[in-house]
Amino acid sequence: MTEISGERTRDALDEFLPSVERLSRLALDPASRIDALMEPFDRLLRSGFLPEEFTSAQPGRFLQYLVFRPDDRAYSLMAMAVAPGVRTPIHDHLAWGLVGVYQGEQRETVYERTDDGSVDANANLRLVEEKRLGVANITTLLPPTGDIHQIRTVSDISSASLHLLGNDIGCQARHAYGIETNCVADLRSGYVNADCDPQPVG
Ligand SMILES: [Fe+2]
Repeated sequence: MTEISGERTRDALDEFLPSVERLSRLALDPASRIDALMEPFDRLLRSGFLPEEFTSAQPGRFLQYLVFRPDDRAYSLMAMAVAPGVRTPIHDHLAWGLVGVYQGEQRETVYERTDDGSVDANANLRLVEEKRLGVANITTLLPPTGDIHQIRTVSDISSASLHLLGNDIGCQARHAYGIETNCVADLRSGYVNADCDPQPVG
């Protein structure tokens, strides 16, 4: 993984990560964990801590940068930069999460799966809501509902968002959905700056 340097970045992470380490390992239900993490996550999001290279996307692309994950990969902090006009696939996360806009403006479209998963490679989605999200706006992910969405940059500059997930999100085997084709496919998004292998032992 690329070493994250800069005094402001290190200071912000030194303040944030102990809370996450403690709260992510307590035996809390996911909703209570998200509630407890909201205040430290909000403070980190507003701190201006991300290195500039983690907030810029190449034209037509979106890029995911790993900021931190513990050795056992029980959670991950990731920055995603999305070029203007670009949208992610519709995707799930399979873990609790907090997502906050760090730069630019995004539109989040939230979906809910309405089928029972019994037909291979088939998924039916229902549109739940659309949200326009500006800097410091935070949304939450709470499977099994509230876990499927698509992000699109609607600002003239690349958007960047900060993601705290209860798994190693870039390496997690998860799903991408086609709403018009009613299809679902395997997804492992990866990171620009970190590998997924080897998997942690134990
Ligand atoms: Fe997402």
